[in-house]
Amino acid sequence: MKLTSDFLWGGALAANQCEGAWQEDGRLPASADFLPDAAHGRWNAMLHPGNILETQYDYYPSREAIDFYHRYKEDIRLLAEIGIKALRLSISWTRIYPTGEENAPNEDGLRFYEELFTECRRYGIEPVVTLCHFDVPEALIRKYGAWADRRLIALYEKYAATVFDRYRNLVKYWMTFNEINMITHIPYLGGGLLVDKDDPEFNQIVYNAAHNQLVASACAVRTGKKINPDFRIGCMMAAGSFYPYSCNPNDVMEARISNNKNYIFPDVQLNGCYSGFARNYFAKLGITLDEQPGDDELLAQNTCDFLGFSYYSSRLISTDPEHLKNVADGNAITTLRNPYLQITKWGRQIDPVGLRVTMNDLYDRYHKPLFIVENGLGVEDTLEVDGSVHDPYRVEYLDAHITQMKKAVLEDGIPCMGYLVWGIIDLVSAGGGEMDKRYGLVYVNKHNDGTGDLARYKKDSFGWYAQKIREECYE
Ligand code: BG6
Repeated sequence: MKLTSDFLWGGALAANQCEGAWQEDGRLPASADFLPDAAHGRWNAMLHPGNILETQYDYYPSREAIDFYHRYKEDIRLLAEIGIKALRLSISWTRIYPTGEENAPNEDGLRFYEELFTECRRYGIEPVVTLCHFDVPEALIRKYGAWADRRLIALYEKYAATVFDRYRNLVKYWMTFNEINMITHIPYLGGGLLVDKDDPEFNQIVYNAAHNQLVASACAVRTGKKINPDFRIGCMMAAGSFYPYSCNPNDVMEARISNNKNYIFPDVQLNGCYSGFARNYFAKLGITLDEQPGDDELLAQNTCDFLGFSYYSSRLISTDPEHLKNVADGNAITTLRNPYLQITKWGRQIDPVGLRVTMNDLYDRYHKPLFIVENGLGVEDTLEVDGSVHDPYRVEYLDAHITQMKKAVLEDGIPCMGYLVWGIIDLVSAGGGEMDKRYGLVYVNKHNDGTGDLARYKKDSFGWYAQKIREECYE
């Protein structure tokens, strides 16, 4: 059985991890440009960002990244060879409004994305665009403390209106914020916040900043629909359901609570209000949101059309202190080691069935179309002397996840708009800043220390995905 012909098979990238050209054509720096690589303490910098804007590190991976800014034509030509139907990209806010506060947008930045989206369309590739993917203008961090300040809402709305208007005929699918729930785990990436993980006010600051993003997201939906009622504007969360470690009811309840926490923001974006759980959770943590008159109506009236989500693995939780010691990498969200799952060198567990479970959970909760906008395997690859890259592990991972995704759609009846391979071209890892944690079907000759000539090579998974899409769509 096949998916419908409008299913969006494709890949995903993000400006801060692929474009580079950090100070070209009027662009000014943004949050990710100040993050070092893993070897120079990226995690520490993210958890304790205090004076990150002043610190001098030896190397900043995002500043050049994979130079997509100059090489996008070659890259899109390659992706078109795979036969992808959609490419997720994000717009770098500081290419459009370099400080976030100019009266007029930067025409060079607008032209770059116009040409980029046009190039996609030339090959029949639908651009799927995120307005904010781990990307806040430096000037807004310095002046307002980024999303900690409500004034960001109007600035974001202006930026959104500018790009909605300019690309009204080029882009149909939009998402307002990447992984909105990440702000509570890595607030510097998620919201440009300089708050320290150990700050006693941590929860107050991050949840309030998230409220500002939620209001901004609703403003963007309102504005976008006025500009083009055919736009489909989604929200985006880092998904991956929590399983209970055991059938002990306490573990089952703990998993439910962990899931509820992850749903706090998509609940607002899709249901139009905070859940009862969220309100009680805020009260328990002593959080008071800076809610203004009109927020409730705005949130209720401007919900998103679909739920975009990333899925890398399920997560696991227990109430037993013994089990709690054995953790694995939950993509910035803590999870326990699940003894039934394989694990990568980076500590990430592999659970294709968990994708189906997650899709069921999300659809049961929201009854809105889902869109898998990130899924993939980040591991080291070897470039052979003849330019080949043999990555059967990636093929196995993707194939198993696609199989489960199809079961969710075809057996469980869940509407899903598309499936996008994360980092379809190797790019800078968000968590570690490494290049050698590779997700791509296209290998980029660049390494953790920044060396390499940036040449592109097709991995074996490239041909496999091309064949898969052909089979799914045409044969
Ligand atoms: C998601 C992000 O959290 O996971 C991406 O939206 C990120 O930006 C991806 O790259 C994979 O995580 P990492 O840390 O392996 O790059």
